[in-house]
Amino acid sequence: MGLLENIAVVGQAALDAFDQVNEAQELEKIRVEYLGAKGRLTELSRAVGSLPPAERPQAGQAANQALKAAKQAYQTAQTKLGATKTQGVALDVTLPGRRHQLGREHLISRTMTEICGIFERLGFTVVEGPEVETDYYNFEALNFPADHPSRDMQESLFVGDKLLLRTHTSPVQIRTMEKQKPPVWIVAPGKTYRRDDDITHSPMFHQVEGLVVDKGISMADLKGVLSAFATAFFSPDTAIRLRPSFFPFTEPSAEVDIACVLCGGKGCRLCKGSGWLELLGSGMVDPALYNFVGYDPREVSGFAFGLGVDRAAMLKYGLANIRHLYESDLRFLEQF
Ligand code: PHE
Repeated sequence: MGLLENIAVVGQAALDAFDQVNEAQELEKIRVEYLGAKGRLTELSRAVGSLPPAERPQAGQAANQALKAAKQAYQTAQTKLGATKTQGVALDVTLPGRRHQLGREHLISRTMTEICGIFERLGFTVVEGPEVETDYYNFEALNFPADHPSRDMQESLFVGDKLLLRTHTSPVQIRTMEKQKPPVWIVAPGKTYRRDDDITHSPMFHQVEGLVVDKGISMADLKGVLSAFATAFFSPDTAIRLRPSFFPFTEPSAEVDIACVLCGGKGCRLCKGSGWLELLGSGMVDPALYNFVGYDPREVSGFAFGLGVDRAAMLKYGLANIRHLYESDLRFLEQF
């Protein structure tokens, strides 16, 4: 068999082999057999050089064509096997599924929703007010006279002339009463800001304000509503007590404590031996406020309260440091 014929036969054999192969390892063997450094086609094209000069051009051309066709067949086979391989992976039903990370509400949002939910079931409506507040709503209309020492505790984060980050949610009391006639039964959740920073205080924190103005509302209603809240939020046997206090916008005013969540009132480290934990500020709406909003103090009376959400969450879940709530550490947040 002459070289020319040999090239034709081996070239065709290579094409057939590449065409039929269906396994990557086998493909590599065939490549080496025909196209490797000592492959059959490689050797044949090398042999062209030892032919008499007159025969070389034709044989050379045939060898080049056979090599080119074989290389192309090799690439085609490679693509085919490669594609099959990827398809196999995509269809591998034995692989574990890809889990979608489900987000969840932050503990503070959840606590806020839970608190508002309890008051909604008691007949309250949820309203909101701005976080950047005017001096008028944050102080003046709440009966804090200008330059009065009662402002000292709260006068803090001003962002302009008579414009500040609200120090409590109480301004929503005024905004609500300006907008609607009694009866008023509202709670107002939101962010509040003060120049405070230690393990139980953060410069930004959350409150839920409550306001009731209706006919014949007394301090008994205040105590009844807050007691109902404490038992719903903490546990069914949570006792509360009222302690005399002062706020410019309530008269009389009361601090509301709950029986210690840890010792139940016996006295422990958490409650510093007193058996009680401070929960919120409250009181009967000072009639002076009614003059600011145009209500008639002879017609209506009411009570208000301001509850620290962060504080409530810390008590309920036994958190030692308020900062845990703001560090966005999933190891902490995922526990709730
Ligand atoms: N606004 C008061 C505070 O931030 C709490 C409060 C609200 C007291 C309503 C009485 C009535 O401390």
